Amino acid sequence: MNSSRIFLIGFMGSGKSSVGKELAKLLKYKFIDLDDVIEKCEKRTIASIFSEFGEHKFRKIEQATLESHLQHEKIVVATGGGCAAFGNNLEIMNGAGMTVYLDAHPGTLFHRLAPEKSSRPLIASKGDIDLMEYIIDKLEERISFYNKAQLKVDAGGSIREVARNIEIQLNNQS
Ligand code: ADP
Ligand code: S3P
Repeated sequence: MNSSRIFLIGFMGSGKSSVGKELAKLLKYKFIDLDDVIEKCEKRTIASIFSEFGEHKFRKIEQATLESHLQHEKIVVATGGGCAAFGNNLEIMNGAGMTVYLDAHPGTLFHRLAPEKSSRPLIASKGDIDLMEYIIDKLEERISFYNKAQLKVDAGGSIREVARNIEIQLNNQS
């Protein structure tokens, strides 16, 4: 495998954090979740950054946090769902390592996100119908960015299966 930096991209609920942890174990890489790093550095939750400073400020913090990890070696980075679709983040990640799109069906995303909306400010106040509509519309808006990833994997299997599938695809690249 020739990449020392793996960036997982995809919609909220596609499994970037869960699969990322598993993949890092398989590869013996370090794992970081950009949202967790942001919360630690800012000493605030993602929800409170959105409510106090707004989405644009969050995106700038997210971009700076991404940029601060580009020199790290042997690292799996779980990005937030909007990270790849902001500014030149996708190009930055493609230039620094291997981007992997976790491709999940809107129905799958709905079932994963509905029970855990509260920590995700963009969907926290939505009822079921609004949530489903949001997933469909936002995915359509972001799909062209996600599709620029160097690898694409079906995110519908178990966490272990998805991680193993990424590992196989990464090995096939080298
Ligand atoms: P993301 O980081 O992309 O927002 P998470 O890893 O936080 O996604 O996953 C959201 C929810 O979906 C969590 O409850 C997680 O356990 C579950 N989940 C993620 N991937 C899978 C999977 N492949 N199979 C079943 N459940 C999953
Ligand atoms: C966001 C996704 C979240 C988090 C923030 C915004 C988005 O990350 O960065 O709530 O714009 O899709 P996850 O994809 O890890 O839930």
